[in-house]
Amino acid sequence: MSTTTKLSSEELIAIEDRYGAHNYHPLPVVLERGEGVYVWDVEGKKYYDFLSAYSAVNQGHCHPKIVEALNKQASVLTLTSRAFHNDKLGPYEKYMTEYFDYDKVLPMNTGVEAVETALKLCRKWAYEVKGIPANEAKIIFVDGNFHGRTMAIISGSVDPSSTRGFGPYMPGIKVIPYNDLDALAEAVKEDDVAGFLVEPIQGEAGVFVPDEGYLAKAAAICKENKVLFIADEVQTGIARTGKLLATCGNCTCAGHCENKPEVKPDILILGKALSGGVFPVSAVLANDEIMLTIKPGEHGSTFGGNPLGAAVAIAALEVVRDEKLQENAEKLGKRFRERMSQLVDKSDLVSLVRGKGLLNAIVINDTEDSSTAWDICMALSRNGLLAKPTHGNIIRFAPPLVMNEEQLEECCDIIEKTIMEFGV
Ligand SMILES: Cc1ncc(COP(=O)(O)O)c(C=O)c1O
Repeated sequence: MSTTTKLSSEELIAIEDRYGAHNYHPLPVVLERGEGVYVWDVEGKKYYDFLSAYSAVNQGHCHPKIVEALNKQASVLTLTSRAFHNDKLGPYEKYMTEYFDYDKVLPMNTGVEAVETALKLCRKWAYEVKGIPANEAKIIFVDGNFHGRTMAIISGSVDPSSTRGFGPYMPGIKVIPYNDLDALAEAVKEDDVAGFLVEPIQGEAGVFVPDEGYLAKAAAICKENKVLFIADEVQTGIARTGKLLATCGNCTCAGHCENKPEVKPDILILGKALSGGVFPVSAVLANDEIMLTIKPGEHGSTFGGNPLGAAVAIAALEVVRDEKLQENAEKLGKRFRERMSQLVDKSDLVSLVRGKGLLNAIVINDTEDSSTAWDICMALSRNGLLAKPTHGNIIRFAPPLVMNEEQLEECCDIIEKTIMEFGV
């Protein structure tokens, strides 16, 4: 088989199935090009991307400024490892810490690595600053969490599809219910609790938005008990929920964040859209008291802090700021939920819509193990819009944040038309 032969979607899916591990169950669509809010499959069919690679493509596909930064840096210097300095890392670190208002940043590559990094930092801080006896630190996770797929992270998961068959698990984790301040207040009473890890909105679980004030109160409980409040904003961060960060809460910053968030996590974890959807970049931000507990040789990554990623991440964040993506996400998100609420009233198949900014989900009125949500996503794709079910009967909707109002209305029309095709 020649590598230049144009293969059909069906043929390409068969090759993946034959040679690739079966650790995903994608929709049978094979994409070959993307631009802004659109992607095209190998047969030339155009779709609205309504998932944005799980919120990694907030700036839209192949954003020219981000691609330009990538190309420019790629032809000069791509990787040095951290055995040496490179001329992009320091400026990137300065840019990041000023952008998010922290003393220091620790650069990594993928979201899960950044979460692992945060857990290590939390434990180190627990032993060196809080004074928890060696090897006794506990970190609190919440029910329904999703932080990635490594061994340490799945040790705090309660989702059998993440954990089944992968034991034994890492100790030092306690799981409490999400959105339950009493449970948190009770859990942090124990002396050996070092940190509380939480997604401000649970994306993977099905876009669960906690009660108003939950995050601020949870952070206050942590502070009172000298427990680190660790926010996993890998999916919710970088303008997705209508604010620069979901933890910004009701911060009134117009344009770009003025760094007066309602909640400021002790440790902030970012990934996905920090890459502009172009090249994996993740980061952990914290102040010196926490960050400087990790010394040379105690943590790192060959690719973390590489000049290519640094150049891409700066460009990705500049696009967010220049194009006011959080304002667009806030405005379009309200309209999207308005349209979907009308659909809930009109169709018995959709029981509710929830979300913030442009991270939303509809719940399909069928059981978790039914194929209805999958069938709807298949029909959506036939009608030119790509989305994917999460947890059986929930469909997550997270388009690129560069979408305009007209495009959003068209997408809502597609969703409405598709749902109505299924009957009432
Ligand atoms: C909240 C959250 N944390 C961490 C991760 C893991 O990120 P990655 O897949 O880049 O390792 C994800 C991925 O979906 C996520 O949603």
